[in-house]
Amino acid sequence: MPYTVPKLTDFSTPALDSAVRELLSALEQESAAVSSENDWKAFRDRWMARKSGVLTQLNDLWLKAAPGPGKREVGQRVNELRDRVETRVLETKEHCDTLSIARSIVDKRHPIIDLARAFIEASERAGGQTLTTDEAFSKAEPVDITLPGIRRSLGAEHPVIKTMNEIIGVFRNLGYSVEEGPEIETDYYNFEALNFPPNHPARDTQDTLFIAGQESKPLRERLLLRTHTSPVQIRSMEKMKPPVRVVCPGKVHRNDALDATHSPIFHQVEGLAVDTNITFCDLKGTLDHAMKALFGSSVKTRFYPSFFPFTEPSADVQISCIFCGGKGARDGGPCRNCKASGWIELLGCGMVDPNVYGFVDYDPAKVSGFAFGMGVERIAILKYGVDDIQLFFNGDVRFLEQFG
Ligand code: PHE
Repeated sequence: MPYTVPKLTDFSTPALDSAVRELLSALEQESAAVSSENDWKAFRDRWMARKSGVLTQLNDLWLKAAPGPGKREVGQRVNELRDRVETRVLETKEHCDTLSIARSIVDKRHPIIDLARAFIEASERAGGQTLTTDEAFSKAEPVDITLPGIRRSLGAEHPVIKTMNEIIGVFRNLGYSVEEGPEIETDYYNFEALNFPPNHPARDTQDTLFIAGQESKPLRERLLLRTHTSPVQIRSMEKMKPPVRVVCPGKVHRNDALDATHSPIFHQVEGLAVDTNITFCDLKGTLDHAMKALFGSSVKTRFYPSFFPFTEPSADVQISCIFCGGKGARDGGPCRNCKASGWIELLGCGMVDPNVYGFVDYDPAKVSGFAFGMGVERIAILKYGVDDIQLFFNGDVRFLEQFG
């Protein structure tokens, strides 16, 4: 039965007491039933609406109806009731707002979810009694809301991967596609098909990590950790017919002791272009362009005679020193980065040796091509001014986050 304001006829103190008690109990009951913003609006209007709210009715049915001598006491009571009603309506609003915020936070799995849940639970435990935020939290399990939150820092691309992608990007723009091969290779792909015959001294230039216990297999099937990405040249040529233009990024392994410039694990990007009429000019033009794209257009390149079993002729590519601008001197002394030579050696390359075509069924009379291989860490070291290759592998976030 909803509460209605009675028309008073008896204005004695006990009669007033009982009317007031009845009204307050209705106020509490209706306040406790409020559980949404809409409920609260209806509750507020029912008690406070100017036209026919309970407070207005009190004026009409109690105050105005009171006989002259009793007016004072009735007036006082009505004033007190007005205060109580107004306060209760505000408190109900605060409780209702907090409850709805807490519910939406819980639904959204916000980090302060536990805090919100604590509020709702405390509010439910209070059994319909309205609570202010402070009261609710004082009844809740203690939560230290001043504790710092859990920071999720953004990851950064590893500088080796970043550099590798940059190198690949340069060649992608020239129409190269990307090929990958296994890190555990056979002797055949890592050496034999690349024109390193068994027992040839050129094998000694790469300190190889062999997989143990394979002596019973024929040499060419024995497994090892690839010492370079060049085996992917062979795998690519087995897979496709000329024209071939591929870059092959990946991890390689050598039995090298680690120091500031050596690591037993490092990365290379291999390149291979085979077509009709490819000449050393194409190789020079391609690598000159690539070095300018990676290090800036003022960089010069120089091709220095070298040897690799799978290229003939072979060359080492040097770039003009990016630290001293190729002068060999810096800050009034010799440039340390290029040992005063003005040049920095960066990669190996050459024209694919015709013997290699024999292993992949290409006709050396019809096709020609070039190959190159560059160390990714070495390029990253130069590009970013890193002074120790180990920094790439130690996993120290303070170093790595600088590349974000
Ligand atoms: N594979 C050679 C190395 O690791 C580099 C190279 C690749 C040289 C392609 C020539 C052609 O040293």
